[in-house]
Amino acid sequence: MINVKNLSFSYKKTEGARVLSDIHLEFDQRSTAIIGQNGAGKTTFVKLLKGLLKPDIGQITIKGQDIKGKTAAELARTIGLIFQNPNDQIFKRTVLDEVMFGPLNIQMEKSAAKEKAIEALKMAGLDHHLDTNPHDLSLSEKKLLCMASVMAMETDIIIFDEPTIAQDNQGKEKIKQIIQTLKDKGKLVMTIIHDMDFVAENFERTIVFNEGKVLADGPTREVFSQKQALLQANVEAPYITQLADKLGFAGTVLSIGEFIDKVDANK
Ligand SMILES: Nc1ncnc2c1ncn2[C@@H]1O[C@H](COP(=O)(O)OP(=O)(O)OP(=O)(O)O)[C@@H](O)[C@H]1O
Ligand SMILES: [Mg+2]
Repeated sequence: MINVKNLSFSYKKTEGARVLSDIHLEFDQRSTAIIGQNGAGKTTFVKLLKGLLKPDIGQITIKGQDIKGKTAAELARTIGLIFQNPNDQIFKRTVLDEVMFGPLNIQMEKSAAKEKAIEALKMAGLDHHLDTNPHDLSLSEKKLLCMASVMAMETDIIIFDEPTIAQDNQGKEKIKQIIQTLKDKGKLVMTIIHDMDFVAENFERTIVFNEGKVLADGPTREVFSQKQALLQANVEAPYITQLADKLGFAGTVLSIGEFIDKVDANK
């Protein structure tokens, strides 16, 4: 789906301080989490994928086509990005208008745009708020609204930047369902996230960024077994993984269900 070759990027071109360097990555259908400490370059990386920033060196192809020659509108049909801070995204006066904006912007008929918007708002649990001013929503609802805005575009690739921040358990459960629905539709779901328990539960592949480079990449279980790399990147394995490890359980445990199975097996 996405191929990243030899990618490097810096904000301050004159000083040459690289924010990302020598990134080589391929993305297939697997749901993928991008983790790493503050400032590791995660958001910068996904902005490059979305064409909001341009690489200094290297190439990004999506479905075999170099994104360099693509307009923002063309990319908007293929790749959706939900920003970390919903206030960077929201600009309309009603929830419905907000979600219809994207589909209308890619020349969808008004009735079809409305249908897509309402469907996406249902997935986000906000279909009872069509006429509400987005700024009157809570932070967690605003984040769900931004997800609906991107889902209404029906892009093949959807990237979330910190979806679980400001969400309580109910909100996290909703986001889990949204991600599952998108996966079931065959979409590539990617997320930047600091919540490792959520990574373990929902993402097949995990990529660790550290100081602008890819430090580890593989199936989530494998990555959470790489203690040295996690230490270097200053990220911790999920709590349940750490607990199982401290108790000396064999293998890498990723969920409470697996933990209980191990306990039962040891009885
Ligand atoms: N617009 C900008 N102009 C200049 N420097 C920037 C800009 N945005 C980010 N940076 C710098 O680039 C580096 C990578 O930032 P980025 O936001 O990509 O990290 P991140 O991994 O998403 O971090 P976080 O987990 O805190 O969101 C940081 O050193 C940051 O200060
Ligand atoms: Mg970020």
